[in-house]
Amino acid sequence: MNTPLSTSIVRRTLLALGAALAVTPAAFAQSPIVIKFSHVVAVDTPKGKAAAFFAKRAAELTKGKVKVEVYPNSQLYKDKEEMEALQLGSVQMLAPSLSKFAPLGVKEFEVFDLPFIFDDYNDLHKITLGPVGQKLLKKLESRGITGLSYWDNGFKVMSANKPLKYVEDYKGTKMRIQSSKVLDAQMRALGALPQVLAFSETYQALQTGVVDGTENPPSNLYTQKMHEVQKHVSVTNHGYLGYAVVVNKKFWDGLPADVRAALNKAMAESTKVANDVAFQDNQNALAAVKATGKTTVYTLSPAERFLLKKATIGVHKQMASRIGTETIQEIYQVTGFDPSKL
Ligand code: LMR
Repeated sequence: MNTPLSTSIVRRTLLALGAALAVTPAAFAQSPIVIKFSHVVAVDTPKGKAAAFFAKRAAELTKGKVKVEVYPNSQLYKDKEEMEALQLGSVQMLAPSLSKFAPLGVKEFEVFDLPFIFDDYNDLHKITLGPVGQKLLKKLESRGITGLSYWDNGFKVMSANKPLKYVEDYKGTKMRIQSSKVLDAQMRALGALPQVLAFSETYQALQTGVVDGTENPPSNLYTQKMHEVQKHVSVTNHGYLGYAVVVNKKFWDGLPADVRAALNKAMAESTKVANDVAFQDNQNALAAVKATGKTTVYTLSPAERFLLKKATIGVHKQMASRIGTETIQEIYQVTGFDPSKL
């Protein structure tokens, strides 16, 4: 019986079990230490590949003391539930997109959602691989979460069953977004009607017309087969979607020091894997969508992209008090972005 009710009962039971079995130092006396790593995307994505690589390297570098079990594709938990599960200790590791941390009360993470804040991976890495990124990860500690690293996915495209080229095209279009107030404001600035939905529910919502369109990097669009229910993809590169790899703080702090050091090394290597494959995976996904011949892929010209930028840049100011002016300014300073020069 796989009704939504039974699924939710199973999930709740898993949460409760995890909490009851919350890790104590004594638990580490037994080998192997199990790390449940839950995520919502396909195995064949930058996050899926990096998670599998981490599992392999964690086993090798700890000489089998740690076993990482990866649960992809929302198999274990959906977006909101996985955050809850991490805090309760039912899973030990996640890599949610940066857009999904604000509901925990860490609104600064929504800075990554600001439209057009990063021009390319180069600008982005100045933040995710630098001190501003580290400072942001520290803010998770008060929520019982330790941030280990940032993993790339990529720059987003827009999709719908009609061409989305000019701002007027978005008017009244119902667009699925992640749970971010900045993404909500971005879609409203375009005249669209944003709707928050879990990633795992997006394909069906597009198929049944609950929403008309969505935004995501091509790797997510393609591996979830969203292109099968979206006739048009616009390569807008209007915003970034990436991840923070996070662990339950109590679990992490309780690990033997040598194990933690080995896992840190495995994580550094996995970050390199994620960031090395992300660009190519997204290029390949876009090419694969084109190759189906069923979905039109249109790349905005610089002039068309600029119109979209003009229409959405006000979101930076509009959201400053929510995200924190200091965080926004720190990023502008590091990347050299100056919205007043538009
Ligand atoms: C989404 O919900 O669209 C993404 O955050 C999914 C993911 O993890 O890449």
